Amino acid sequence: MTNLLQFLETYIVEHFAFEENYMKEHAYPEYYSHRSLHESFKRSFYKLKSALISKSPDIPTILEANKMVVDWLVAHVQKEDRAIGDYISTHPQT
Ligand SMILES: [Fe+2]
Repeated sequence: MTNLLQFLETYIVEHFAFEENYMKEHAYPEYYSHRSLHESFKRSFYKLKSALISKSPDIPTILEANKMVVDWLVAHVQKEDRAIGDYISTHPQT
């Protein structure tokens, strides 16, 4: 379980940091609200992580927690992250 959580945490931290830099570089107008979604999700993730670590959960609980995290990430990528790409493709930098 630790490996799975570590993988997700690394992915989340690195992906969010990369994307936040990317938004800043392109002066994305929704930067602050998007970053706030990241921050809020990171807080939920760390809460979930410490709950899982302290309770020695069974496999179904681990899989359910993993599904919650992955479902959030997929929905976020499909909607919020796609909006960044849409904005940048229609507002090329000079
Ligand atoms: Fe994002």
